[in-house]
Amino acid sequence: MKRSLFGTLVIFLALANGAGAQALRASFLKSPQSPELGGAATVDRADITAFKQMIPNAGPMRFPQFMFGQRQFVSEWDPAPGEVPDQDGLGPTFNAIACASCHINNGRGFLPADGEDFESVLVRFSVPGDDGHGGPKPLANYGGQFQHRAVDGVQPEGNAHLEWEYFVGYYTDGTPFRARKPKVVFSQLAFGELPADMMVSLRTANPVIGLGLLERVPAETLLDLADPDDSNGDGISGRMNIVWDAKQQRNAPGRFGWKANVPTVELQNAGAALGDMGVTTAINPDDNCPAVQDACLETAALHPPEAQFRPEFFEQLTRYVLLTAVPRQRNADDVKVMQGRSIFYSSGCVQCHMPTLKTGDSEGFPELANQTIHPFTDLLLHDMGEGLEDGRPDYLASGSEWRTPPLWGIGLTETVSAGQQGYLHDGRARTLEEAILWHGGEAKSAQRRFRALSKKDRAVLLSFLKSL
Ligand code: HEC
Ligand code: HEC
Repeated sequence: MKRSLFGTLVIFLALANGAGAQALRASFLKSPQSPELGGAATVDRADITAFKQMIPNAGPMRFPQFMFGQRQFVSEWDPAPGEVPDQDGLGPTFNAIACASCHINNGRGFLPADGEDFESVLVRFSVPGDDGHGGPKPLANYGGQFQHRAVDGVQPEGNAHLEWEYFVGYYTDGTPFRARKPKVVFSQLAFGELPADMMVSLRTANPVIGLGLLERVPAETLLDLADPDDSNGDGISGRMNIVWDAKQQRNAPGRFGWKANVPTVELQNAGAALGDMGVTTAINPDDNCPAVQDACLETAALHPPEAQFRPEFFEQLTRYVLLTAVPRQRNADDVKVMQGRSIFYSSGCVQCHMPTLKTGDSEGFPELANQTIHPFTDLLLHDMGEGLEDGRPDYLASGSEWRTPPLWGIGLTETVSAGQQGYLHDGRARTLEEAILWHGGEAKSAQRRFRALSKKDRAVLLSFLKSL
């Protein structure tokens, strides 16, 4: 991997990391937590539209653009040539026809019921090696993501379904719990065998709220919070992913995606447009057709070579994602919620799910600048142990490392995602309890503390999570 200026900065800061870093962590942990989880970018909304609101401090001038961007997020794409100009160019291969197909009401996706097609989840795969920038190496015949759909005249890459392994475990008080783990099984493969050394990762769509704020937490803050060698001896390291920024053509801190493998919202959106829907942008001008997929290449060649997503429209989509607000915490003064919050602290959840961060400067979006926010993430990678391992490294993230996901909005999951719940990177956890019980590796002691709680205290902790 080429070492950019940023790579050098990281090493420098990592060496400098010490007392100062621990002071920052301590000050964030001590700072009071307000129910305004997104600072001034918080909305008081707890219904099915709670994740689709513009941040209130953006001002009314932004609103028409925001709604236009929202339209880009929910619009269904057609194959080219389609009836609506600027909304055609789906495929040749794809997973879904709209951003909102997977990010339901801007919330998370969920796993298909037995025998049903994948609707809001996707599968990434790679082979050992790298893509020239330290990222995963795509399969020669299928690329880096499995597309199970295609436009007329083009073969989809195949089909996939899930098989489940079931587990039973016990809380310390003897109460049993159940858990399950999915395995992806491929069928009707159109372009030959999958390589034997292939690595596979099933992913559900993350909620899309407050991402502009997270993008504006200074990289220095994250490096200060990181403790790659566990120098404070708390059993928790946490490190930043360093990934390729295809727009700036240099390495940059990773923040988005389950392995923090994407540096900016804009690149995440461009990657989603291409990888999930087959829609090209100025950032990714070529359709997604591995060299052996002839019909895909021929269909792609029929289109004019410019971006299918009109640059102005794509820009509005990115503004929309950046300016989507965070819902306010509910029932923050409820005694149970307050007790749950102290259990969340005393169980060590806050060591990764950092309650407070501060955003820094924000060029172009002053409304996102200098906010005290409560996302409950450190945006860092943590080794979560064998149970959660996917065995598929992504830049610096190993097969068992995952980015701490933000917990803001998590209590609204069912409300927003049409009654569905599915937590963790592959959506396996049907309840918040199940999600916590899968925590291993660096989070093993926190998981043990949770398992050892009384039934009443477990319920109290959950009331806190559900208030977020
Ligand atoms: C086929 C389902 C699917 C579609 C369609 C889809 N996404 Fe996603 N999205 C995902 C998944 C899965 C992830 C997590 C990716 C990962 O970790 O590898 C994700 C992650 C994201 C993230 C990062 C969130 C975070 O917290 O890090 C953003 C932003 C995003 N998508 C925006 C979009 C936009 C904009 C579109 C439309 C152009 C879109 N997505 C279309 C499935 C989808
Ligand atoms: C060592 C860091 C660490 C600690 C400590 C930790 N977590 Fe997590 N948590 C993570 C990571 C990383 C994930 C994502 C894992 C995955 O998707 O495979 C996660 C996922 C979750 C999720 C699911 C989020 C989602 O969007 O699907 C919940 C809920 C959660 N944690 C709650 C807790 C609670 C409660 C505690 C304390 C008992 C805790 N965590 C302790 C790192 C940690």
